[in-house]
Amino acid sequence: MADGPLRIAVLGCADIAWRRMLPAVVATPGIRLVAVAGRDRARAARFAAEFGGEPVEGYEQVLARPDVEAVYVPLPPGLHAEWVGAALRAGKHVLAEKPLATTAAAAASLVALAGRRGLVLLENYMFVRHPLHAEVRRLLGDGVLGELRGFTGVFGVPPRPDGDIRYRPAPAGGALTDLGGYPVRAAQLFLGPELDVVAATARYDLRRAVDLSGTALLVTSAGVSAQLAFGLESSYRCAYELWGSQGRLVVDRAFTPPPDHAPRILVERRGSTTEKVVAPRDQFAEVLRAFVLAVREGRACDLGGGAILRQAALVDRIRETAVWAGM
Ligand SMILES: NC(=O)c1ccc[n+]([C@@H]2O[C@H](COP(=O)([O-])OP(=O)(O)OC[C@H]3O[C@@H](n4cnc5c(N)ncnc54)[C@H](OP(=O)(O)O)[C@@H]3O)[C@@H](O)[C@H]2O)c1
Repeated sequence: MADGPLRIAVLGCADIAWRRMLPAVVATPGIRLVAVAGRDRARAARFAAEFGGEPVEGYEQVLARPDVEAVYVPLPPGLHAEWVGAALRAGKHVLAEKPLATTAAAAASLVALAGRRGLVLLENYMFVRHPLHAEVRRLLGDGVLGELRGFTGVFGVPPRPDGDIRYRPAPAGGALTDLGGYPVRAAQLFLGPELDVVAATARYDLRRAVDLSGTALLVTSAGVSAQLAFGLESSYRCAYELWGSQGRLVVDRAFTPPPDHAPRILVERRGSTTEKVVAPRDQFAEVLRAFVLAVREGRACDLGGGAILRQAALVDRIRETAVWAGM
């Protein structure tokens, strides 16, 4: 087993790498950035100057380097299958941005490839690692809401600049791929993995050939429902609510709290409201810690294997079920 910090490279000078992941890499013990690969050397050099590592033009060159043990892949989702696959075949552990792939079949083949090669493959649904949600689960376990009757999860953002990868059918594409996965993942956290998709809708931009927003209704075998909404064309909302026989619980800024933000859990019961504040945590750093432990110590992580497959299957089902409205 290798010693010292995990030597990681990034494939693609992405906005999310600059804003969240690479600052977390720099601040996290046990991991070191050794290379930044981009299509454009100057952009890679700007990233390397800020966060360290060697700038490299082209992704293949980085995969060929023996000093790179692992890669972080924040490419547009439609390119993940190609480059995550290439990284695994080159013997690298992979932390992939969400979603790992744009279809369940592609996700399954990457998970199988990682398994055959004995490599770690995690999907960066980073909010799952924030202690906020463990605290919500503890409150549910304590019976604060009585019996759980339903979940509501939303993630919507105002329109992005026209050239954004989210407005291109390839290699990225649309609201379900980019944002829908968050409430889908959160619904599974609280209602369990065995959810069925009952109905879904999508508003489709005919000119750009991408979905701009959507909704989905999921249900457990006990009839507990999850109502989800997501979109790239609304005011900002990023929240979930759990509703039980004796009260309701609301979490705002649920999926993307900044590292210095102390999230609040609001519980409303029998006419009175209480608030619990959870300590700030950098959820990207939490993902990195889990990644290092998975690689170095074989520690299981809820961002890998079965969780990836269940998530991808539900997103596929939402896409197949959706009633599309073209605009
Ligand atoms: N976990 C989270 O909180 C979070 C938040 C936002 C986004 N994401 C995910 O992170 C990924 C990247 O999102 P982003 O907003 O950071 O995107 P972005 O800024 O557009 O970055 C994507 C990068 O991919 C590379 N690339 C290679 N081929 C490309 C092509 N044909 N078109 C565009 N870019 C190409 C580019 O880097 P080079 O030119 O340097 O190669 C580009 O900078 C997506 O999977 C997204 O879902 C995750």
